[in-house]
Amino acid sequence: MAESKTYYITTPIYYPSDKLHIGHSYTTVAADAMARFKRLTGYDVMFLTGTDEHGQKIERLAKEKGVSPKEYVDNIVAGIKRLWNIMDISNDDFIRTTDERHKKVVQKIFKKLYDQGDIFKGVYKGWYCTPCESFWTERQLKDGNCPDCERSVELVEEEAYFFKLSKYQDRLIEYIETHDEFIQPVSRRNEMLNNFLRPGLEDLCVSRTSFKWGIPVSFDDKHVIYVWIDALSNYLSALGYMTDDDEKYRRYWPANVHLVGKEIVRFHTIIWPIMLMALGEPLPKQVFGHGWLVLDGGKMSKSKGNVVDPVVLVERYGVDAVRYFLLREVPFGADGVFSNEALINRINSDLANDLGNLLSRTVAMIDKYFDGYIPAATERADIDNELEKLAVETPGRVEKLMDKLEYSNALAEIWKLIGRANKYIDETTPWILAKDSNKRSRLGTVLYNLAESLRFISVLISPFMTRTPGMIRQQLGIEDESLSTWDSLVEFGKLPAEIKVQRGEVIFPRLDVEKELKALEELQPTTGQTSQKEEAARKDETSHKTAEKQQRPGEEQGVEEITIDDFAKLDIRVARVVNAEPVKKADRLLKLTLEVGDQTRQVVSGIARYYTPEELIGKTVILLANLKPVKLRGELSQGMILAATDDNDNLALLTVDREIDSGSRIS
Ligand code: ME8
Ligand code: MG
Repeated sequence: MAESKTYYITTPIYYPSDKLHIGHSYTTVAADAMARFKRLTGYDVMFLTGTDEHGQKIERLAKEKGVSPKEYVDNIVAGIKRLWNIMDISNDDFIRTTDERHKKVVQKIFKKLYDQGDIFKGVYKGWYCTPCESFWTERQLKDGNCPDCERSVELVEEEAYFFKLSKYQDRLIEYIETHDEFIQPVSRRNEMLNNFLRPGLEDLCVSRTSFKWGIPVSFDDKHVIYVWIDALSNYLSALGYMTDDDEKYRRYWPANVHLVGKEIVRFHTIIWPIMLMALGEPLPKQVFGHGWLVLDGGKMSKSKGNVVDPVVLVERYGVDAVRYFLLREVPFGADGVFSNEALINRINSDLANDLGNLLSRTVAMIDKYFDGYIPAATERADIDNELEKLAVETPGRVEKLMDKLEYSNALAEIWKLIGRANKYIDETTPWILAKDSNKRSRLGTVLYNLAESLRFISVLISPFMTRTPGMIRQQLGIEDESLSTWDSLVEFGKLPAEIKVQRGEVIFPRLDVEKELKALEELQPTTGQTSQKEEAARKDETSHKTAEKQQRPGEEQGVEEITIDDFAKLDIRVARVVNAEPVKKADRLLKLTLEVGDQTRQVVSGIARYYTPEELIGKTVILLANLKPVKLRGELSQGMILAATDDNDNLALLTVDREIDSGSRIS
């Protein structure tokens, strides 16, 4: 029997966040383009995405909102599914870690590892980073904080189950050393070997008893299973692994590639392969750690306070422009800068000028010179060879690059063909041929070749762009589905003559850069542009800063002595950040909603350059509660949250070193 070509690709499963930004879309769009590419080139594809819904953080957030964790995640997951719909994501399945089908499998995996002695019971003492859902040993902490996100960690001590990572460490090192393709790009492979594996693995704590929102250990249900054991198992649970219906597992496992952001490569190349080794399963063929999209805007770029909402961009420019930009702008393994300007420039140069013009010029000329009927190619010339050759060679080149996940280079290859076709128009000058009735069959051939090139292009771009290929074919009048297959690109000239083109709208209208930048800045303020309003805001902030300074008398002049009665005038409270969001048009400010006991307070704070809203939500902060309220940028600020700053422009928020009720007084 012929070996069936299967291809299993996954994205990470996303944490439920109601602010999925352009960076999140990046992973999923890349996975989608690959899934579409593999389907196009004849593979039986399984493309999986989903959501990672358990853990202490979710439990806390739900509690703060006064809803059950399940209600909380259901709502957000619906939003995530809508986003993927808007981005034209063609996933074959969507796994939620709250699905019964998933929970059952995770429990079985845990039990199996316990029964065979790879998981055992002990006492856990150590540090836990709630936002990252990661355990750390004392030694791994960075200045006492989480080495991944640098936020504060909590000391925990409890009875727990442990997974014997150390037992498999040497096997894993050997595997990585003998399978170059397993961790890509190579830089990440070396990082894993040198920073984590070679120094030695400690046994991993894989259960918690201090909260409930997780999958219970089936044989000891006061424990919930560590979220990463839970989350990573999704790649198998979605296939029906360890169930009666494991057809998909037998068909698709091992995965061809897990696409993940670089910060979670560690989990996917240490914990996950060791789980698989312990289960006796083959390892995924590849874990690819892509870079991050970061924001642009000079100095302000360090500010993480603003996120770019993909929906705003899709509504304005269409899903294809956004998908194209994400995949073209940045080489996949590297970090890349997102800026509105780069997006608009790409749309104008690559989409409006190169691709859009090629289509509208070709269709317009067929309309004008041949009454809209694609002419036959009856009079070839040497100059045609180069275009034809490039057209038939491009699919192979794209295939090679896609196999290395070089999306940007693959697109660049396709754009060479587009460029070549545009140049062909300039070289053959159809408008001059049209003036000479003896050149009519030559003119026909030129226009045929352009139409056929566009057919090639429409197929080549179809993994990356979901709407444009159909629009191109519609304008060319191509209805025959067999002309949009990958196999139809083996030969230049399959497009039949005499089909009628249909001039349509310009597929990518040229954008006015200045106007768009302004509009985008209004829709979602990012960085960079300094408007007068912003200058005014900065003044506000400066005066706020001055106010802060007055609260810390003598910073420059030496510290004035105060009495305990002076101190007693300050009402300082523990507060919990319930919500945080950017203040419109003020890129240094965040508007925080604080829970202070049973009160709610709004505080505007100039910390947007140092903390993302996401990072702050759920955090415990210290509030100077009896500071006279002020209005900043039209927003009421009822108090001030306390922070430490140093001379190097670092800022750290004050917090408490163990759980304590919000509203607690500091004295
Ligand atoms: O990590 N640029 O979920 P997540 C590029 N639940 N990629 C970005 C990005 C950015 N600015 N921001 C986020 C988790 N991502 C876990 C995964 S898998 C068993 C469990 C990417 O919602 C990020 O790198 O925090 C990751 O690949 C994905 O979005 C989901 O991140
Ligand atoms: Mg993350």
